[in-house]
Amino acid sequence: MSASASRDLKTGGCLQGRVKVPGDKSISHRSLLFGAIAEGTTTIEGLLPAEDPISTAACLRAMGVSISPIEAGQLVTVEGVGLDGLQEPDHILDCGNSGTTMRLMLGLLAGRAGRHFVLDGDASLRRRPMRRVGQPLASMGADVRGRDSGNLAPLAVQGTTLRGTIVGTPVASAQVKSAILLAALTADGPTTVIEPSQSRDHSERMLRAFGANLEVGGEMGRHISVKPGATLHGQTVVVPGDISSAAFWLVAGALVPGSDLTIENVGLNPTRTGILEVLDQMGANIEIVHPRDVAGEPVGDLRVKHGPLKPFQFGEEIMPRLVDEVPILSVAACFCDGESRISGASELRVKETDRLAVMARQLKAMGAEIEEHDDGMTIRGGRPLHGTALDSETDHRVAMSMAVAALMANGPSTLARSEAAAVSYPTFWDDLARLHR
Ligand code: S3P
Repeated sequence: MSASASRDLKTGGCLQGRVKVPGDKSISHRSLLFGAIAEGTTTIEGLLPAEDPISTAACLRAMGVSISPIEAGQLVTVEGVGLDGLQEPDHILDCGNSGTTMRLMLGLLAGRAGRHFVLDGDASLRRRPMRRVGQPLASMGADVRGRDSGNLAPLAVQGTTLRGTIVGTPVASAQVKSAILLAALTADGPTTVIEPSQSRDHSERMLRAFGANLEVGGEMGRHISVKPGATLHGQTVVVPGDISSAAFWLVAGALVPGSDLTIENVGLNPTRTGILEVLDQMGANIEIVHPRDVAGEPVGDLRVKHGPLKPFQFGEEIMPRLVDEVPILSVAACFCDGESRISGASELRVKETDRLAVMARQLKAMGAEIEEHDDGMTIRGGRPLHGTALDSETDHRVAMSMAVAALMANGPSTLARSEAAAVSYPTFWDDLARLHR
């Protein structure tokens, strides 16, 4: 199949067996970044071998960090250059499709005094808002410029000594928070980040494990303070499976009659498990088997069996804990009798695509009854969907969501730009073929 050919999507059958989803994308980026600025070697087990972390590794290599090849099943080693050891690169730093790469890089590079960096990405990344990072960094004295008054890539960063400060973030975004924490490591005084509500806390956990002087306080861990100066030390990082990738199997297993799936080694950090809360609200048959702690992150195996599902409602409060799972939940809603409602989800409009618009468009093409709102959608489920010509519109999570919708449709579908899945889950199509009976 050529990269842009349409993929045939199967319908009917059931999903059975065991699947190990690839490593968590958020934790993978962080292990590379923190390893790069530590002293000594960091060894990463289970790093996600997908396009997004590969973009992060390529940027770090361009600044003199030695990182072993990133291949499925292989340990990755990062030879740290220390807190201020990154070299000025000869070329632009290409962040590809990865918002996490670009935003965390901004925080990492803003304080590299005397060095200049240019960050760029693909057409999708060039449309995504970067002021949310540039503005708080500017309050620390950072010099970040770009199109639309510094909001859009390509972005130029002139490294400079940063001031420690107290900064409130405009959105509960782990990317914004993590960028500030990275900048704070070498600022001239302590920094406190205050989030409107708690976003995923992988940076806090991992930075502490690497030796950063970081404290989490405030109601629900919304205040994070860093005192600069502590040396980071290379660590062994074990990356759990990505719950955002497991989400496709959780919904598929719950929806498709006759299914029984076990998803192994899934990260269950409480700042990421909103999907399990919503599936529980829907009455899904999901069991957490063998919960355990692996290298500072909670992990378990998840067994899901098909069963009847009820419609759901959720809003802003839970959004940071399931922001990447809204597309697949919109698919689930199509197959529940009754009205489901998603609100407080306007962040979806500035992801790899406008995921509210794209999911509504693709599901409507199958006959779904969806009303799109500024901050969410209302989905009247229970009517049959028909197979048709679908398109990921270049978005990895849309590609995988549509594969699950197609399984439940009457008649086969095709999916254009299915290769987008490789951004976070390169073996998704192979796993689907293997689990489908
Ligand atoms: C991520 C945070 C989330 C998420 C993205 C990864 C991270 O974005 O959507 O896939 O690794 O920090 P926001 O922080 O912008 O919500």
